[in-house]
Amino acid sequence: MTPLTAPMAALLLTNGACAQAIDPSGLDATLGEVAWPDEDALTARIAEASRQEVIDRMSPEGPPARRDVHSKAHGCVYATFRVESELPAGLTHGLFVPGSRYNAWIRFSNGSGDPTRADARGDVRGMAIKLTGVPGDKILPAERQATTQDFILISHPTFFADDPARYAKFIERSSSKNPLVKWVAPLALGWKGLNIARRTVSKRIASPFETRYWSTVPSQLGVGAGRQAVKYSARPCVPGTSTIPADPGPNFLREVMVSALAAGEVCFDFLVQTRAPGMSVEDSRTEWTEDQAPFVKVATITIPPQVFTTPAQEAFCEALSFTPWHSLPEHRPLGGVNRVRRVVYESVSAARHELNGVARAEPSGVERF
Ligand code: HEM
Repeated sequence: MTPLTAPMAALLLTNGACAQAIDPSGLDATLGEVAWPDEDALTARIAEASRQEVIDRMSPEGPPARRDVHSKAHGCVYATFRVESELPAGLTHGLFVPGSRYNAWIRFSNGSGDPTRADARGDVRGMAIKLTGVPGDKILPAERQATTQDFILISHPTFFADDPARYAKFIERSSSKNPLVKWVAPLALGWKGLNIARRTVSKRIASPFETRYWSTVPSQLGVGAGRQAVKYSARPCVPGTSTIPADPGPNFLREVMVSALAAGEVCFDFLVQTRAPGMSVEDSRTEWTEDQAPFVKVATITIPPQVFTTPAQEAFCEALSFTPWHSLPEHRPLGGVNRVRRVVYESVSAARHELNGVARAEPSGVERF
């Protein structure tokens, strides 16, 4: 049995509502969580490699230190998240209270760690959603009183790694100073992972507002005996019609967002997919297919017209920290990838805030710039 580590013990303590369902290892075996071999040690290695990457990527002239991945934001906008007025009973948990409404911040990004990479090149795109004003104790002990709930999504339905041993090898080799080692780093992902990574990062998009995003990895929905495993997706309310310009500038996705929000509001449907029998919470590389496990709309995200490019709003957004563990127990992240992320996101966020001399704080939702 996996020893009870400090983060796991903390999870048990803070997750009182469902503690009876989680075994002493901190894993929810009923929902299918299984520890990977050497998970804690590998997680520490991934966190250290990621933290070092933040430092190494900082300019010799000094700050800003940026995220080691998803370093380039196209923009970060305020939005509202309105839960449907009626929901199936099985989905009415946590913040999915029919008719409720939350203010949100949403950061749209490229996946690359290179903030100068041209938008027209293929990449995975991120949509990191932070709801504010969400009542209830949160999972992370240091941020129990925070009123935020994060949903972090990318532009592909599967994630290229689930085994932390492969991920550790990949990230350590990717940040090697030896160009040959760096070049062969993706091979650490194995054939299946490599194939997903290739498909994920080869996508080119015309607009972050006309792209669909997925959580790729699961979360719990509800607590106690009725809890289930779900995934999330955000889909543009109307199909996009934009095309990539013939001669796109390096930051054309930002320009597209500016023009769209000068012209009117933008919206996404926020969807929940309930796991069907046989689907795994540990295997992030196999899609939960929609024919077997359909997505159901639970909320509408509306991004009102706005100017998001002011220096104050940009600085505020770069200082935000997203993690799937900014969460109510009713939406607790599940699976090995999420357990790794619990430690790594904290470590990278702490490193960049320290280097930038900025305090880490969750927003209240009333901030406007
Ligand atoms: C073990 C797997 C993973 C590791 C180690 C990892 C690591 C990280 C780190 C260190 C950050 C920057 C955090 C910060 O500085 O605040 C980040 C950001 C991000 N990650 Fe992951 N990640 C993993 C899996 C995933 C998955 C499965 C998704 C799928 C949704 C994802 C989507 C994102 C996005 C969209 C961001 C940008 C968030 C923002 O805008 O601030 N990551 N990731």
